[in-house]
Amino acid sequence: MLTLPRLGVNIDHVATIRNARGGRHPDPVRAAHQAVEAGADGITAHLREDRRHISDLDIARLKSEVTRPLNLEMAPTDEMLEIALRHVPNACCLVPERREERTTEGGLDVAGARSDLKDFIARLKDAGIRVSLFIEPDMRAVETSMTLGADIVELHTGAYCEAALKDDAAGFADEFKRIATAASQADAVGLEVHAGHGLTYNTVGRVAALPEITELNIGHFLIGEALFVGLNGAITRMRNLIEEARLEVRRRARQAS
Ligand code: PXP
Repeated sequence: MLTLPRLGVNIDHVATIRNARGGRHPDPVRAAHQAVEAGADGITAHLREDRRHISDLDIARLKSEVTRPLNLEMAPTDEMLEIALRHVPNACCLVPERREERTTEGGLDVAGARSDLKDFIARLKDAGIRVSLFIEPDMRAVETSMTLGADIVELHTGAYCEAALKDDAAGFADEFKRIATAASQADAVGLEVHAGHGLTYNTVGRVAALPEITELNIGHFLIGEALFVGLNGAITRMRNLIEEARLEVRRRARQAS
């Protein structure tokens, strides 16, 4: 049987549009329901310190109303810990956060992060929450994540997608190699491996083809594409590309044997 990576649909930018005018429309929870109907395996939302898109109420509603697992992205702060322990999402993905950034620009500095990160992770795990660390695809970050007790690493695909946007073939190949190497290192030390950030129809296939990747989290591109083809159309096409990538790997393995 073909195993596909799960697709987590990040609905933050539905809230970005809502917040541009205040009020309640468009509702990210409605988008989450539609994403589930279209085949999303989970819903991802980032509650930022400045609440620029997702709100506290959105998190409460996503947790209580949506039937698929919620992956709460958050900075490792005391405020977020309290919120996570209150709502108990399926998973928390710890991300770095700087107020002035447009989006999460780099992976979590796991080595230089708060000294009590290990305890922070343990408190989430004790509450039954799976803990993921959003890291740069490199060996040290993978090893530190394991030492800290994370269940999962989510590999940052931003640089790889940037290289694709700039038509930088050498950079694209290098960045892909970093992701592939980190995925196999993380898997070898027993970490579950996810990937995300900046993925599009053009860039998803190579990452989805990596056998260690069990989940992809994709937001901005899907929400933007939904303007043209609807959320269902965008998610269906993304899932098809993920499936085709895995089928292609299987075809090649059969030919080689
Ligand atoms: N994964 C993580 C940890 C993120 O912070 C984000 C952005 O919120 C994503 C995935 C999704 O990135 P994008 O919106 O670029 O698809």
